[in-house]
This record gives sequence, structure tokens and C-alpha cells, in this order.
Amino acid sequence: MKNIFRTRALLFLLSLFGASNLALADDPTYSADIAPILFDKCASCHNPDGIGPMSLLDYEQVRPWAGLISLKVQAREMPPWHLDKTTGIQAYKNDVSLSDEQIATIVAWVEAGVPQGDPADLPPQPELPNPGQWQTAEILGPPDFVVKSPPYTVKANAQDQWWVRRTSFEGLIDEPRYVRATELKGAYPLGVKVLHHGHATLVSVDADGSRRSGPVGRQGVGKGGDLFPEGTGMLINPTGTITWNLHYFPIDQEVENDQAEVGVWLYPKGYVPDFETRGEQFFAADSGPGGLWANDVIIPPHSIKSQQGVRVLQRAALITSFRPHMHMRGRAQSLEAVYPDGRREMLARVDKYNHNWQIAYEFEDDAAPLLPKGTMLLITSTWDNTANNPINPDPRQWVVFGQRGVDEMSHTWIGITYLNDDQYERLAAERRGGERLTAGQ
Ligand code: HEC
Repeated sequence: MKNIFRTRALLFLLSLFGASNLALADDPTYSADIAPILFDKCASCHNPDGIGPMSLLDYEQVRPWAGLISLKVQAREMPPWHLDKTTGIQAYKNDVSLSDEQIATIVAWVEAGVPQGDPADLPPQPELPNPGQWQTAEILGPPDFVVKSPPYTVKANAQDQWWVRRTSFEGLIDEPRYVRATELKGAYPLGVKVLHHGHATLVSVDADGSRRSGPVGRQGVGKGGDLFPEGTGMLINPTGTITWNLHYFPIDQEVENDQAEVGVWLYPKGYVPDFETRGEQFFAADSGPGGLWANDVIIPPHSIKSQQGVRVLQRAALITSFRPHMHMRGRAQSLEAVYPDGRREMLARVDKYNHNWQIAYEFEDDAAPLLPKGTMLLITSTWDNTANNPINPDPRQWVVFGQRGVDEMSHTWIGITYLNDDQYERLAAERRGGERLTAGQ
């Protein structure tokens, strides 16, 4: 009720200021006002085949959930987009969040007693995604090749499991090639539900003998494939090994011989991209003083604790995505840049972190942080080991680093493209040009 009151008060205030962009429908009904929002923003998961716990495809299905829907959208826990909207970059390619106006419409509708309205006003039923298919295929067509992990049986009832295996990679390409996109998914239908997150990392040796390591797939609940911008590619060699790190959560039903699948989309043969990337990279501050990895994580019972770690970029870089990773006590994580001139800038902050979700926040191309060599990246993680954290399994425990969800971690996956001086200057000049254009308009 308090939240509803707050929303009302906010609407009233906005109306005083004549905020005309908040054109709230007078008496919102399910058919005319709510269904279009739910079809657009919720149906992709809340359907019989989706990962949402219930379907939200018609009035009868939505009605019993209306109160909870109102609370979840006000708290911005649903749709899953857990970024702090008050600080940092707000332009993302994959932003699925609701507008303030959409939230206010849902709240007003629930407050008015969930009127159905005239079914003639309903929009057509939404087109639902097929969870057995590659998401990236919608943009690029079928992958150039697919690799499967060795089979693994996930028991019906057990602890969560980190499963690691190595397989050889050969015979799929006959020369070094540049990758345009990758995607990792559990096998449809049950593998999709047990695979919480995972990585498939290809390790190979370059002609000059140096080791090359890059992700050919990363998966997390709520995360799609990784598509590099046109002109950016990741080089892979024809032979190597793939390390599979798969984190499975049992679902009360045995899943026999799950095989996670990696799909890889290549640039044409002979194509050399302008920018070479190593893909989404593990990013903890180096262990040791100021570190955030492994032995540094010790959280007392009933406490809220923050820790920071830093890493200095040895080369200029373009940051394309931010994906915080903690476990069940994780509450917030931020990524800041401290520039060589001392200026400090919040790049992105997740303030509603929830271990159920592993979302990669993908910056819009013209908003992606472009950082000069020598910039310090500052990561701050906050854990909530109190009873106020709804997914805390036991606030009486001391919590230390570990692989299981009940242990803790703190790191970030960052989409990063390192740049040489020329490339950095070129992109920086383009940005400055863009600014002048905007200022002159
Ligand atoms: C990307 C998939 C996805 C989208 C999009 C999504 N949901 Fe969910 N929703 C889930 C999953 C998975 C859960 C259960 C886990 C959780 O609560 O985080 C859930 C939980 C919920 C719950 C709580 C159910 C319970 O029993 O506690 C509500 C209410 C809800 N969603 C409403 C919505 C609404 C309304 C929208 C759109 C405005 C939406 N969701 C968009 C996947 C999604």
C-alpha cells in the first residue's frame, strides 16, 4: 500500500508540473491497457514453455497474480532488469525495463480492482519465442557450427553442482577464423531449466606459440547470446580444447544426460575485422591487496558488507557489457572508472542484484565506456547476509568464498575490446564529433 501511495503522490506531483509525457489512461482496463504491456514485456518468459513460474497470457491467468505483479513492477524486480536507474549509464541494447508510465498504469489498474474491459480491445496474442532455438539465429540465421558438452545427469534433488570437463576442438574450421557471435544454451526442454549459468572457453595456441583463450559461449539466466558489433571479431584457431564450466541447479525432476550446446557464428573466410576482441572476460581485481577474489571474501553473520577491488587498464579499451556475479547474499555491485586525470565516473550499478539472474547489461554503441590506457576500474560489491535478504539461506552463517550458491563470490564479466592508440584516438574523435553535433542542434 505504501508503494501505491507513493506512486499516486508522484503522479500528483508530476501533474502539478504538467508532465505531459505521463499520459496515464484514465481508467485502465486489462484488454486495452494491461495486455499490451504484459504481451510485450512479460509473455516471452511467462508462457507454458517459458522460464517464468506462471503464464500471463490472458485475463483469467493474470487476475490471481495482479497484486503481486503490482508489487514486483514497482520494486522493478520484474521484468528482470536490476540496474540502478539513478546513476550511471542508462542506454542499453537489451533494456527490457518498464517505463514509469507503464508501471503507474499497472498500479492504477490493480488499485481499481483489475477491470477486464472490452475483449474487443485486446491486441493479438504475442508471438512466443521458441526456447529450443538459438536467439542469435533471429539476427544472423543458423550458426556456422555447433559443439555439445559431454552428457551429464542432473539429479532430481541435490545441491547445485559445478561441473567441469574438457573436450577437444578440431575439425570444425580449417584455418583461423573471426567469430561474430556466440551463444550457449541448455538442451531443450529440460536442460534449459537446469542450466543456471555456464561458460565454454576455447583455449588454443597461436602460430607464434602464445596461448589464446576466448569464450565460445556464455550462458546465464536472463542472458542471451554475445553478438559483437559489425567490424569487431574474436579470433579462434582450428584446434584446441574447450573447457565447459556448467552450473546446474536441480529442478525436482531428474534430467538425464543433459548436453549444453554452443553455437558459433563466423565472419566470412578471409575477413579481418577492424577491432579484435577477446570477448566477455572474467574481471576480478587482481588478488592480493585490494583484491576481491577468493580468500578476501569473509562475511560475518547478520551483516551487510562491501568490498572493493581495482584494476588498472594497461591498454585503452571499449567496455561493451557489464555482468555482475555474486551468489545468494549478493545485493549490489557497481563499476566505476577513475580516469588518469583523477576524474571518477559511475559506469553502471546494479542495486537489486538477485542470484537467480545473470544478466549482461549491454551498453548502446555510442554510450559504451571508451577508456584511455591507465584508467582504473573500481568494482564495489555489497552482500546482505541478514534476514532481510529474501533469498538468504541462513543469516546465522559465516560465509566464505566458494563455488556453491550458498558460498560467496565477487567478480564481474566485462565485454571488453582492447584498442591500440590509433583505434582509441579514432573512436574518441568520433565521440567528440558526435558531441559537437548534438550541442549544435
Ligand atoms: C526473462 C524472463 C522474464 C520476464 C521478461 C518476466 N519474468 Fe516474471 N519471472 C520470471 C522468473 C524466472 C520468475 C521466478 C524467479 C524470480 O522471481 O526471480 C519470475 C517471477 C515473477 C513473479 C513472482 C512469482 C512468484 O510466485 O513469486 C511475478 C509476479 C512476475 N514474475 C511478473 C512478471 C511481470 C508482470 C513481467 C512483465 C512486466 C515479468 N514477470 C517479466 C521470468 C520473467
